[in-house]
Amino acid sequence: MLPQEIIRAKRDGLPLGEDDLRGFVAGMVDGSIGEAQVAALGMAIYFQGMTGAECAALTMAMARSGTMLDWDLDGPVLDKHSSGGVGDLVSLALGPMVAACGAYVPMISGRGLGHTGGTLDKLESIPGYRTMPGRDEFRRAVRLAGVAIIGQTDDLAPADRMFYAVRDVTATVESIPLITASILSKKLAAGLDGLVMDIKTGSGAFMATCHQARELAESIVSVAAGAGLPTAALITCMDEPLAPCAGNALEVRETVRYLTGAERDPRLHEVILALGARLLILGGLAHDEGAARSMLEGALESGAAVERFSRMVAELGGPRNFVEHPDRHLPVARSTWPVLAEGDGYVAAWDTRVLGMAVVALGGGRTRVGQAVDHAVGLTSIARVGTAVRAGEVLAVLHCASAEEGGGASGRAARSAVLKAVRLEPEPSAPGPLIHESHESVMPG
Ligand code: URA
Repeated sequence: MLPQEIIRAKRDGLPLGEDDLRGFVAGMVDGSIGEAQVAALGMAIYFQGMTGAECAALTMAMARSGTMLDWDLDGPVLDKHSSGGVGDLVSLALGPMVAACGAYVPMISGRGLGHTGGTLDKLESIPGYRTMPGRDEFRRAVRLAGVAIIGQTDDLAPADRMFYAVRDVTATVESIPLITASILSKKLAAGLDGLVMDIKTGSGAFMATCHQARELAESIVSVAAGAGLPTAALITCMDEPLAPCAGNALEVRETVRYLTGAERDPRLHEVILALGARLLILGGLAHDEGAARSMLEGALESGAAVERFSRMVAELGGPRNFVEHPDRHLPVARSTWPVLAEGDGYVAAWDTRVLGMAVVALGGGRTRVGQAVDHAVGLTSIARVGTAVRAGEVLAVLHCASAEEGGGASGRAARSAVLKAVRLEPEPSAPGPLIHESHESVMPG
């Protein structure tokens, strides 16, 4: 069918065939289909949805639109992907831990989107770290360190790159079949043997309700199974930042503290262990949850995981002594200012999206496409839900780009956002579950 006929069919709610979707994707890559037609198809899919078969066909066509990596390694090739959150540094810690357990982790990550932080922006706070290495350098880092976290290269799922850029500016990001095809096309092109998805739900997630998160989890595991990629999806809580900090260099520093054992936040640790355990089981490296968790704990305690992180940083151009001296290398904000509670109570909830936007306001995220971010700024010491605070006690600490009183205009805006984001109650409330649900692909045959 002609592109306009494909758009018309989807607009009118008719299912698209595999050949139509393949042809459309091929046209996106060879330039014969332009952004206007891509935007129109995206909006038609946003409103009409897709059947499982259509979503699978779109995913495969996008995966095959560029290079499909293959690996010849002596362990399973595994990866983890998050739907996006605040204080979510799981990828930075989990990749090296899983590598230390015998897997290889070629992790293709993204930049911050909206209020959420991006793993690539975090890694770029390490001086010299190359997030866009050449293919040979990437393969070498995966082989030697067991893990390499990089950005989407030009040749990997180029149709997703184009589709995503158009969706970002045409209000069609929040579509379950489009998110499924976008994430899985990159993962299938990366040649994985197993994938675990961390699907966030709550005030700081794109899928705010558990119902939406479940729909996305089910869509991802079923399309992945059809494509032969064993996949598990956990739905985890993003009703407060996962780590007690948010901001690029601040999260990298927290990762080093986590990996070395200087400090391990219990919520962060539990999510890392739960996701890591699913991954080790999918990769055939552990038989059950208990064994998998012991392996991950062992990789932390023996220092093997932090050693993998250190090696990855060095292989990709960062300082060789980074984990020994993170403070010598990471940028530091010009000033820090505590945000003090204005009354007594228990922290009952955070509006996590507002906290994420406070980091953006400080300069840690983008307000325009391609804008540079300030790696040093952000929030630390974010009070956990359930903490008792008195008026005048610290709710969070701002790390600001300006040395002016209160961190200048952006510091004052961030302070107001933190105060607006917190809800204090006179009585402590029972914390909700950290891990809501687990979904697993059932492989055909
Ligand atoms: N992450 C992706 O890679 N694609 C989406 O569509 C949403 C989140």
